[in-house]
Amino acid sequence: MSTNRLRVALIGQGFMGKAHSNAYHQAGHFFDLPYELEREVLCGRNEATLGGMAARWGWRETATDWRSVVERPDIDVVDVAVPNHLHAEIALAAAGAGKIVLCEKPLATSVEDARRMADAVRGRPSMVWFNYRRVAAVELTRQLIYDGRLGDPFHYRGLYLQEWGNDPTRPPGWKTDAAQAGSGVLGDILSHSVDLALYLNGPISEVCAMQQTFASGRDVDDATLVLARFANGSIGTLEATRYATGAKNRNSYELHGSRGAVRFSLEDLNRLEFFDATEAKPLQAYRNILVNETRFWKPGHILGYEHTFIAALGEFLLSLHRGELFHPDFDDALRVQLVLEAIAKSGNSRGWQTVELK
Ligand SMILES: NC(=O)c1ccc[n+]([C@@H]2O[C@H](COP(=O)([O-])OP(=O)(O)OC[C@H]3O[C@@H](n4cnc5c(N)ncnc54)[C@H](O)[C@@H]3O)[C@@H](O)[C@H]2O)c1
Repeated sequence: MSTNRLRVALIGQGFMGKAHSNAYHQAGHFFDLPYELEREVLCGRNEATLGGMAARWGWRETATDWRSVVERPDIDVVDVAVPNHLHAEIALAAAGAGKIVLCEKPLATSVEDARRMADAVRGRPSMVWFNYRRVAAVELTRQLIYDGRLGDPFHYRGLYLQEWGNDPTRPPGWKTDAAQAGSGVLGDILSHSVDLALYLNGPISEVCAMQQTFASGRDVDDATLVLARFANGSIGTLEATRYATGAKNRNSYELHGSRGAVRFSLEDLNRLEFFDATEAKPLQAYRNILVNETRFWKPGHILGYEHTFIAALGEFLLSLHRGELFHPDFDDALRVQLVLEAIAKSGNSRGWQTVELK
């Protein structure tokens, strides 16, 4: 394959700065990429640690002002991995300068911003880091659905449980500040559950939500519970919380259909449980499948969290080369944002809320 250069500027040096740096470093090791990925600029606000992080992950330069980076002619890709309230401004500036834009979830803190962002890149390649779509067990779930192995869907159940909200020793950060995060668990982790629900079970038409803030003085939701109606006739529940004592990062789902069921948890991400209701009754039981993922290693050689980011980036770049649009793109993330907005409205009004179509 030819090796066109793609010079990347990563905005954000935190948790996702690390996950994305690793993906840029590793994608070419596992995917036969037609691009030479050049880690050009790492941009962050913590000057004391920025140089060390850039050296560790192979970034050529550092910057502390994203405005000095996103329009540079020697940058091809701008990747936005900063607190949520900054996504729109940075992504719009990068898109306006003709860059390929990648952005962390949630796409924005409002539907208005998300719509402007999706409009700005429509027809061009874009990616939103809903990385859990790239878990092999999730891909197998989708395959089972498309092969008709689950039959007509009845129930979808999505959970995203964390416990760190209930830690009084933890210093306050941007994730618990509405001005920077936009919302609490709604945008932070329920966005992942909504994306997986839309990806696996199709559009959500109506929601009814309850939101709770446990910590005094906090202005974001610590927990959000949702009843959902899907356009395909199935019904679902979605739940996200930072107060699930004992749960570190339990992102899981179940689907029950007329012919079978599946259940998945990120706590055991190499496995998918599949129940085949068409088997002879005495033999019916959940099978615990060690999912074969061969893009990285040989079958059964298990994968971890970081592979979801490497796979997302690798597949995005292969789509880019083929001239195909990639999913999840900004339009997919706008659809998630519309569901999140309906959930927030329902939480406020305490009533059912129709989800606006894109
Ligand atoms: N895909 C996932 O699973 C996943 C997981 C965690 C976080 N996220 C998302 O990634 C984004 C970042 O979250 P995080 O956990 O890495 O946060 P973080 O607090 O660890 O890092 C945020 C970084 O942004 C930098 N920053 C803040 N303001 C800046 C500015 N004006 N210019 C340049 N840099 C600035 C900070 O220096 C920091 O390095 C958020 O949108 C979050 O929702 C996604």
